[in-house]
Amino acid sequence: MKTWKKPLKVGLVGATGVVGETFINLLEEYTYPIEEFRPFASQNSEGIKLFLAGKEWAVQILKPGCFDGLDMVFFSSGDDISKEWAPQAVKAGAFAIDNSNAFRMEKETALLVPEVNGHLINSSSRPQVIANPNCSTIQLTVALKPLFDHYGIEDVTVATYQAVSGAGLPGYEELLTQTKNFETPDHVSKTFPKQILFNCIPQIGSFDDQGFCSEESKIMNETPKILGDQNLKVSAFTVRIPALNSHSEAVWVTLKKDVSREVLLKTMDEFPGLAMMDQDYPTPLEVSGQDPVFVGRVHQDCHNPRRWLMWVVSDNLKKGAALNGLQIANLIFS
Ligand SMILES: NC(=O)c1ccc[n+]([C@@H]2O[C@H](COP(=O)([O-])OP(=O)(O)OC[C@H]3O[C@@H](n4cnc5c(N)ncnc54)[C@H](OP(=O)(O)O)[C@@H]3O)[C@@H](O)[C@H]2O)c1
Repeated sequence: MKTWKKPLKVGLVGATGVVGETFINLLEEYTYPIEEFRPFASQNSEGIKLFLAGKEWAVQILKPGCFDGLDMVFFSSGDDISKEWAPQAVKAGAFAIDNSNAFRMEKETALLVPEVNGHLINSSSRPQVIANPNCSTIQLTVALKPLFDHYGIEDVTVATYQAVSGAGLPGYEELLTQTKNFETPDHVSKTFPKQILFNCIPQIGSFDDQGFCSEESKIMNETPKILGDQNLKVSAFTVRIPALNSHSEAVWVTLKKDVSREVLLKTMDEFPGLAMMDQDYPTPLEVSGQDPVFVGRVHQDCHNPRRWLMWVVSDNLKKGAALNGLQIANLIFS
């Protein structure tokens, strides 16, 4: 992965969360040049020391003027905090890369997956809020983009199987605690609406009047915006499963043109960020910690030759959040 031309002053809101931790690990792994690092979290974490680029940096709380002098701030601590503070980062002259849902569907906000619509931002862009899409949407759009460009897409149906890390540190800890105490008859469920151990839960977020939960609406609204086709029909059904990390998706995509399986696989294989598995299939356990979006089990529907089924798996903390955010920063600074 490319790094930045010059050392940057970087802020990270939500530095003690699972996405924040992944963001720091990626900065270390790819040895990004860092002139200053300003980590932010809640009062509970104030003063905690985080290690990056050979130094310790103390966690701060958000306060007026806290972004002064920064080049970029990555926000990963929820909608309300982003709504209030991301515009302040931009006012202070920084790019705000926002991992929350706060700005994604605003008309003037770029909703970016660099491999898919990275042309919307470049090194001449002015400081602004840039939205990182929903984690399930990111991996879906990376898999769809080569098909969209080469054959056109009529419609997409997706069923997700989402890991507990998608609900942050509390989700992760809830599954681990229930696993340690697996013989307990009544598990306490605070993060998920029902016991997650030995279970799967067809609800991620709250339900709307039509019966969709908010995770489903995010996928259905964001995918057409990212692919640049507001007429694209996307239908989503999202399910939480007791995997620790990495989201999986069963995808049905109807193309506008005929194509052979061999050519379709080649088209996807050549697309950056996709790792095709033809003889095997990816699973969340194997994919966790890796950068690409993995695709396996590509096969043709038996009723409609233009409809294709596939299995798409990716690390929600990496490509679904922190890595995608860093790739956005690369468009601006490298
Ligand atoms: N997890 C994923 O796979 C994923 C993927 C895409 C997008 N997202 C989005 O990313 C965001 C963070 O997710 P996460 O999974 O990392 O959650 P998390 O593990 O629960 O972490 C939340 C972070 O927000 C911080 N925070 C809480 N209140 C704060 C405040 N008043 N001021 C500043 N920081 C505060 C927490 O600090 P303390 O430790 O001090 O409480 C912690 O660092 C959410 O918007 C989520 O929807 C998550």
